[in-house]
Amino acid sequence: MSNVFPEGFYWGGATAANQCEGAWNVDGRGPARTDVTTVGTADSPRYITVRMPDGTTTKFSQFTPVPKEARGAVLDGEYYPNHESIDFYHHYKEDIALFAEMGFKMFRMSISWSRIFPKGIEEEPNQAGLDFYRNVFLELKKYGIEPLVTISHYDTPLYIEEELGGWSNREVIALYDRFTEVLFREYKGLVKYWLTFNEINCALMTLKFIPNMPHTMVQDRYQSLHNQFVASARAVKRAHEVDPDCKVGCMVAGGPSAYPLTCDPKDIIAAQIENQNSFWYSADVQVRGAYPAFAKRMWEHDGVTVEFGEGDEEILRSGTVDFITYSYYMTSCVTTHEDVEMSGKGNLVMGAKNPYLTYSDWGWSIDPDGLRYTLNEIYGRYQIPVMVVENGLGAIDTVEEDGSIHDPYRIDYMREHVRAMGEAIADGVDLIAYTPWGCIDLVSASTGEMHKRYGMIYVDRHDDGTGSFERRRKDSFFWYKKCIESNGEDL
Ligand code: BG6
Repeated sequence: MSNVFPEGFYWGGATAANQCEGAWNVDGRGPARTDVTTVGTADSPRYITVRMPDGTTTKFSQFTPVPKEARGAVLDGEYYPNHESIDFYHHYKEDIALFAEMGFKMFRMSISWSRIFPKGIEEEPNQAGLDFYRNVFLELKKYGIEPLVTISHYDTPLYIEEELGGWSNREVIALYDRFTEVLFREYKGLVKYWLTFNEINCALMTLKFIPNMPHTMVQDRYQSLHNQFVASARAVKRAHEVDPDCKVGCMVAGGPSAYPLTCDPKDIIAAQIENQNSFWYSADVQVRGAYPAFAKRMWEHDGVTVEFGEGDEEILRSGTVDFITYSYYMTSCVTTHEDVEMSGKGNLVMGAKNPYLTYSDWGWSIDPDGLRYTLNEIYGRYQIPVMVVENGLGAIDTVEEDGSIHDPYRIDYMREHVRAMGEAIADGVDLIAYTPWGCIDLVSASTGEMHKRYGMIYVDRHDDGTGSFERRRKDSFFWYKKCIESNGEDL
């Protein structure tokens, strides 16, 4: 296949504020939920330490419901990897120079809401927070790297989560309105591409992994999601009003990536339902501006009522996104048959094991063909530009005595996924960007581990909080540089 990647294709990498910035309480930043979440392992998840009303403290798995009256707390003797992370806050110039050396055309990052509005409720933004991001954008501009900015990536201010009840409270929409208004005005001309929420569908994807979730929480999740859809649509409209040149996209986890394990028609239907619930439900609302036909049956099945505010339908209709993005790591298999082997560790995405695929050390399947498949499914349905804004292999890397890091497994993974994107483009998909996850090593979202490394840049930072923060180029750094230089031809 000759080179199919279009001229101007955005090659780059992706990060999120809470997983790379550190400086959690510096320059006026307020705490987020991720700041009260400890380190975990692949086999035992992270936990949230909370203070109960009687003053005692309790630990909850990060995936289990925390009682409403409990308050997240930073406790002595616990380790919170997001507090310092890889200290991008103080290393951003060095990091951006390395991205430029690889040839990045785009850098996906997120804004920490509590750096701008420490509790989320203030009338005026925190100037130091605004300055930090302005400096980052200016630094990117210096090298001609286009920022792709996620407005909210798993780190709603703790105050909003705990005192206001989080996104199930409709009042949070107005706070997000204020936050986005400030961002769009402040960074007009510096940021062209925005994403409203990272993996907005996660709240529904995780439903099935939390056993015996109280019904009120299921209800909360649907309502929170609806409120986020409304907030997102309002942000799209506002962004276009403030800056007609900017583009706003949605970000949905995983793609329609559930396969039927067998050709039993019951498995086919089960996989279809899984993809509807996990992916299309959230993508349809944001791309088409209305809930899909199957939503009613989902609500009935889960016994929930989604409350619409006055004018919500119109807001959703008028705030559809300009492009769609998703994270793609793996596919999963769905079956109605019993006694099948399951896969997945340390994160939420699990399913029956696929006998045709290999798996990472964290039990995530490696399936480049699935990337081509999901790209075709998505583009076939929506026909708007698509970006793959997360993809990559979380693996254990070894630093050799001479300081080099050989990661052929990561190069193989990336090569095959780039090939798969090339196939999808040849199939006719309007794919415009690829920003692999954790282009620089950072804290894992699901486990808090540092040794689950995705980067092409190694960071000397470890699970116990030791390390010098020194950056090193891995072999994959040089491979990706070559890939970008040849616009995806020299793999
Ligand atoms: C995505 C998230 O789900 O997966 C990222 O958007 C996350 O925040 C990434 O880091 C990889 O997952 P993990 O658990 O390996 O960090």
